[in-house]
Amino acid sequence: MMNGPRLSVGVALCALALSAATPVPVSGERRLAFNDGWRFFKGEAAGAERPDFADAAWRTVQLPHDWAIEGPFDSKLNPHTGALPIFGTGWYRKSFTLPAGAANRFYSIEFDGAMSNARVWLNGHELGGRPYGYIGFSFDLTPYLRFDGDNVIAVRLAPEDHSSRWYPGAGIYRNVWLDVTGPQHVARWGTYVTTPEVSGEKATIAVKTELRNRAGSAATVALRTSVLDADGKSVAQTSSQATLAAGGSSTESASLSLAHPQRWDIDRPYLYTLVSEVLDGQRVVDRYTTPFGVRTIAFDKTQGFLLNGRKMKLQGVCNHADLGALGMAVNRRATERQLQIMKAAGVNAIRTSHNPPSPELLEFCDRLGLVVMDEAFDMWRIPKVPNGYSKYFDEWSERDVRDMVRRDRNHPSIIMWSIGNEIPEQGSKDGWKDAKRLVDFFHQEDPTRPTTSAFNNWSDAIANKLADQVDVPGFNYKPMFYGKVLQDHPDWAIFGSETASTVSSRGVYHLPIEKYEKHDSLQISSYDIIVPAWATPPDVEFAAQDRFPNVMGEFVWTGFDYLGEPTPYFGGRGPNEKDWPARSSYFGMVDLAGFPKDRYYLYQSVWSKAPMVHVLPHWNWAGREGQNIPVMAYSNGDEVELFLNGKSLGRKKRFSEPVEIPVGNNISPDHKFSTRYRLLWQVPYQPGTLKAVAYQGGKQVAVDEVHTAGVAAKVRLIADRGAIQADGEDLSFITVRIEDKDGNLVPGADNLVHFTVTGAGSIAAVDNGNAATVEPFQANQRKAFSGMALLIVRSQKGQKGSIHITATSDRLAQAVADIAAR
Ligand code: GAL
Repeated sequence: MMNGPRLSVGVALCALALSAATPVPVSGERRLAFNDGWRFFKGEAAGAERPDFADAAWRTVQLPHDWAIEGPFDSKLNPHTGALPIFGTGWYRKSFTLPAGAANRFYSIEFDGAMSNARVWLNGHELGGRPYGYIGFSFDLTPYLRFDGDNVIAVRLAPEDHSSRWYPGAGIYRNVWLDVTGPQHVARWGTYVTTPEVSGEKATIAVKTELRNRAGSAATVALRTSVLDADGKSVAQTSSQATLAAGGSSTESASLSLAHPQRWDIDRPYLYTLVSEVLDGQRVVDRYTTPFGVRTIAFDKTQGFLLNGRKMKLQGVCNHADLGALGMAVNRRATERQLQIMKAAGVNAIRTSHNPPSPELLEFCDRLGLVVMDEAFDMWRIPKVPNGYSKYFDEWSERDVRDMVRRDRNHPSIIMWSIGNEIPEQGSKDGWKDAKRLVDFFHQEDPTRPTTSAFNNWSDAIANKLADQVDVPGFNYKPMFYGKVLQDHPDWAIFGSETASTVSSRGVYHLPIEKYEKHDSLQISSYDIIVPAWATPPDVEFAAQDRFPNVMGEFVWTGFDYLGEPTPYFGGRGPNEKDWPARSSYFGMVDLAGFPKDRYYLYQSVWSKAPMVHVLPHWNWAGREGQNIPVMAYSNGDEVELFLNGKSLGRKKRFSEPVEIPVGNNISPDHKFSTRYRLLWQVPYQPGTLKAVAYQGGKQVAVDEVHTAGVAAKVRLIADRGAIQADGEDLSFITVRIEDKDGNLVPGADNLVHFTVTGAGSIAAVDNGNAATVEPFQANQRKAFSGMALLIVRSQKGQKGSIHITATSDRLAQAVADIAAR
């Protein structure tokens, strides 16, 4: 799986070395997945756009594909982008045939995104290009297609080094589609559904539909618009006629009325489907579906954010788009799993920092009930990195914004559009002009949602009037100034667009509680108070949100750890051997493998209602018998009692201490952490069982325990799902635990575990959540980190049956597991 065969000159000249073309069945379906049968070459390949170019020696890859995640990690590569090979030239080619009978149709290729600087050819004709890696783009193939022989699509990507502040991946990392239509059809992203009136009795569904006519003569068609409920039953319908000029298009407006509409909401994300059918006489010649929801949003200076008229504090997280060990290659299950893990902490909002997300992310936010702040850019004209978006801003920003909104505006999950993150133009007198220009594009394409921006330079953003341009200003890391901003601008609805940035390593505790010490391990203590200079521990933001109920909420940096940006290491100062191999973030409340850190439970204790308590640290402190160990409990009960080996160490009440919100920008590292949102005991160590019992109104509601573990004795495998789809894409995420003979997790265990996967699946990747290791993600073995590792298993297309997994490790009892592929 590592590096594929390299193209040698001899192979390139060999006339027989063309790869076989894949036949594409044209079945009447409008959208065909176009991910199979691609060839890939890493490097420059002169002439590879030509159809007769010999590519048979190139690797076959399945899209979505991220070449950079294959590694290897390299200390000479930029740690801020994950120390992975994210730059260089890469070529993809796909050879395909179309049935002769399909010649009278119209064909486009749709890329959901390619990283980056894409150029695309069909049969040697250049179709165009797109620099921004996070935006979808498409090209009409029709003029250059052959129906009597092979067609070849060639894609050249040229991502640059120093083009991002985090790991962007490299390659055709999102899905590719072939869109096949007759001459009259709904345009790509051609529907726009809004709900101008919503009440319990009735909702008005306003629909704009852009129809296209590719024929050389005018055509009159009927447009039938139906609303289906979640069971697929038609609940509203309307029809109209449209006359379309030769080669022209027209936007049709329709209004439908829905009786007793079901609302889309966080706890019950009800989705309707709009079906747009184009009819030529009685014959349906095109069918285009648009999932949508009925919901109202409001942003109110006194109440904050309202969903369906109900006040809802945004309990949000910022996430980058990588899927950990799978890199940037889009995967439905991996996306869904990340969001499910977030939701279980009480998260109700996602910020797609700092770029448009994959379509799949929005689809799952719609389905799971998460609201979204959809963000366009991390920079405008003033660069943050030498080869970033600034190079393309003047030429492409309007097109990128309009395309982003047209792609995304029907998702009920999206509640606001962000014009950018920490844009350096905040500091310039004219910055407001660019802000206004972008805001206008968003408003023109979608007047139903507010715009925002994540301001870090709060005083300049206000003084230079950027904050006046957006509808709801967001502030990054400024809980100490919410009061002042609200006092000076009583009409604003504001929120914490980026908060906390606390750093920690799962399962690692340094004693006594420290502010920040650099340890040789490059691990960071998990007492959840260590933050960089601009940031705050979670408690400070909680207190500010409590003090200002009209502040709309927060987006924590970050939900998941991500590749790149290993702050506090490499501190932006370039190569620093002592910081190697830190290569991914420590900011997540969940580690890169998807295992919750303690901090996850701190957020859960404030954000979720289901009774819970979580106790830390682990209880293996041999050599410290009799010494005080700080023990914390995170709970949403009003009191917690701690027991050591059955003996009570007393009850403590939540909210018994205030949290000071210091005024000033740099509140760390001198910030005194408080025990308002967490409870602290100093416990003289003796091995055994530490138990935390949570009470609500005097009644026991939750218990958590940690046990002193004995020596590592066995491996245990726990699959997140026992059955997966046999489609070649679905994944099972298998937690690997190193346990003592009684089933206790062995806290510091770092045993190397080997995996064998046979039957109807194979290894997709391995991980352990350690931010400072250069073990490859694509391997059949992994060391445990803090006692745990992750094995990701993928099904094989069309192969049903059992996937058999064995995990072995020296001196430990092995584990086996079986997963069904259906
Ligand atoms: C913010 C920035 C994020 C990330 C974070 C780390 O200032 O917007 O992208 O770099 O800092 O704390």
